[in-house]
Amino acid sequence: MTDFKFADMSGRRVLLTGAGPNIGRQIAVTLAKAGAEVALNDINPDSLKGTVAAVEAAGGKAYGVVADVSDPKAVQAMLDEISTKFGPVDGLVNNAAITIRQGVLDSTYEDWMRVLNITLTSVFLVGQAFMRQMISNDVKKGSIVNIASTSAHRGRHNAAAYCSAKAGVLNLTRCMAVEFAPYGVRVNSVTPTRSGNPVGESTGSREPVGIPLGRLGEPQDQANAVLFALSHDAAFITGIDIPVDGGTLCTASGLSGAKKPG
Ligand SMILES: NC(=O)c1ccc[n+]([C@@H]2O[C@H](COP(=O)([O-])OP(=O)(O)OC[C@H]3O[C@@H](n4cnc5c(N)ncnc54)[C@H](O)[C@@H]3O)[C@@H](O)[C@H]2O)c1
Repeated sequence: MTDFKFADMSGRRVLLTGAGPNIGRQIAVTLAKAGAEVALNDINPDSLKGTVAAVEAAGGKAYGVVADVSDPKAVQAMLDEISTKFGPVDGLVNNAAITIRQGVLDSTYEDWMRVLNITLTSVFLVGQAFMRQMISNDVKKGSIVNIASTSAHRGRHNAAAYCSAKAGVLNLTRCMAVEFAPYGVRVNSVTPTRSGNPVGESTGSREPVGIPLGRLGEPQDQANAVLFALSHDAAFITGIDIPVDGGTLCTASGLSGAKKPG
């Protein structure tokens, strides 16, 4: 029998945006446990410190950069700093996002733009800076995972900007996959359903309504899918979305109507 370590990330260096305490932190620790060195970003210094500490406590190597991923200059400076002080990355996870509970009628222009800039434009900015660096370093193998949402796939009350931004993430993923393929870089998305705390909130207990598997997602569920998509074991997979949603998107309305047997 030969040794086979699935999704081995040894020798890989990955940048993760929005590395705060919820899904981001679990992704960071999971990638580190699989052997990756992780460059971590967040706009919140305390959240970032916590994730750097969690990676180190798990025996991994982490480098933290506070930056606003919706600011083009800050994004370029972040990529440059990571490259010179930590080492160039060949993997990227675009996880940073915000939501504001507003529909079309009650949203201001400023709030609409803020959600779009942080949740969608950041994926363009960080993806572009990452890919330009890969090309200039002549690195011919890499991977990107963009975090989408079940909200990318259908409408929701009071989340017009977030749903629109996440739908944009899905198709930007496909565009990047097509454009970056000749450079050996694969690009996929992962779609979480409600997992851990609600995005942008520090607490949350919610019933798993509309989730056929009957529970909320755990950040580890998302992290496992990100790890696989990012790893070279997914070498022939690009341009797809991986729903990690307990079957949520299988149902037409989001209300499965499923009852527990017995
Ligand atoms: N939690 C859920 O139920 C859920 C469901 C579906 C999709 N998602 C998606 O999963 C991802 C992670 O979600 P989460 O719940 O862990 O979110 P979260 O709000 O806990 O974490 C997002 C992180 O992004 C950071 N951030 C915000 N603005 C930033 C900026 N301008 N620059 C850099 N960092 C910034 C925040 O400080 C935070 O640490 C997000 O993309 C989210 O949309 C989450």
